[in-house]
Amino acid sequence: MQYRELGRTGYRVSQVSFGAWAIGGSWGATEDRESLAALHQAVNSGVNFFDTADVYGDGRSERLLAQLKRERPDAEIIIATKAGRRSQPHTAAHTAAHTAERYNAANLTAYVERSLQNLNTDALDLVQLHCPPTDVYYRPEVFAALDRLVEQGKIRFYGVSVERVEEAMKALEYPNVQSVQIIFNCFRQRPADRFFCAAFQKQVGILARLPLSSGMLTGKLTRDSQFAAEDHRNFNRYGAAFDAGETFSGIDYDTQLQAVEQLKALVPPGMTLAQFALRWIAMFEAVTCSIPGAKNPLQVAANCAAAEVHALCDDTMLAVQKLYEDRIKPLVHHRW
Ligand SMILES: NC(=O)c1ccc[n+]([C@@H]2O[C@H](COP(=O)([O-])OP(=O)(O)OC[C@H]3O[C@@H](n4cnc5c(N)ncnc54)[C@H](OP(=O)(O)O)[C@@H]3O)[C@@H](O)[C@H]2O)c1
Repeated sequence: MQYRELGRTGYRVSQVSFGAWAIGGSWGATEDRESLAALHQAVNSGVNFFDTADVYGDGRSERLLAQLKRERPDAEIIIATKAGRRSQPHTAAHTAAHTAERYNAANLTAYVERSLQNLNTDALDLVQLHCPPTDVYYRPEVFAALDRLVEQGKIRFYGVSVERVEEAMKALEYPNVQSVQIIFNCFRQRPADRFFCAAFQKQVGILARLPLSSGMLTGKLTRDSQFAAEDHRNFNRYGAAFDAGETFSGIDYDTQLQAVEQLKALVPPGMTLAQFALRWIAMFEAVTCSIPGAKNPLQVAANCAAAEVHALCDDTMLAVQKLYEDRIKPLVHHRW
């Protein structure tokens, strides 16, 4: 495993880390035993950074991570959780301004207290605002509330998880923001244009989420793939339940299937498409780590192996860029 500095936190985190949304059970039924086996495999493979949220399985994901810490007392385990989406409804019926008001000191403190309990700890390693409405980035009092939580010792560091590149740019203006989590994969390249350079200069870490475009970049999906009723790939394909960019990167399913076939032709021998997709992300120096979601030990081991495969050559990087520009960019680039 390779490690990179996360912002100015002093944490050195695994280049391929672990996204713990799916093990909360929000992607179809999961067995805690299998999820824990996946988490143990991650530690065995050198992963030391886990991304979760208070709402993943309503705390189930956080509690599984607390169990992992209990079972692996000698391992370094850094947990990034998120706060904000317990304010329901977070979107739809409420206006963005109304939702933004709920990102106040009292609510954030209550959410943090609950995560402290779920994670069975005195201080949270990293708390990220969980894709709040854009208005929140124009409310310095929200960031002052997070500063206060740091002063009180309840959280060590904080960052943001954003939907849009402009929100990421705005977040960089707050001096104590340590990390920005953003969608970044072969099919969502816009952050590399402008944001990466700005974040790198300010020493703000970048967590690349949806690194496998909800599983599409593993190459295993087909036109006929079916998903469980409660899996967001079944019900949020067009953004009905939360942001339109989140499931399958907000890109037409069939177009991605065709683009995946083109990508497969670029994968060097000995590498899987998933490993190629994760290695492609790591080629960007500004990115601290990717956080692929995985549900079982086999997926974890396969994904972590991407940290060991050789770098991609310039021609391959250019070919992925061209594929993006020709097929994907017109569909998504200016939508976020
Ligand atoms: N708003 C936010 O802040 C936000 C939003 C989304 C995600 N996230 C974070 O980002 C993480 C990752 O994003 P994501 O979970 O949406 O998507 P992703 O990492 O792009 O895709 C994950 C899914 O791909 C499949 N998969 C993973 N590794 C595989 C392998 N080696 N072989 C075959 N299939 C594999 C698994 O699903 P199946 O086995 O079911 O196919 C897995 O759940 C989340 O866990 C979460 O921590 C944050």
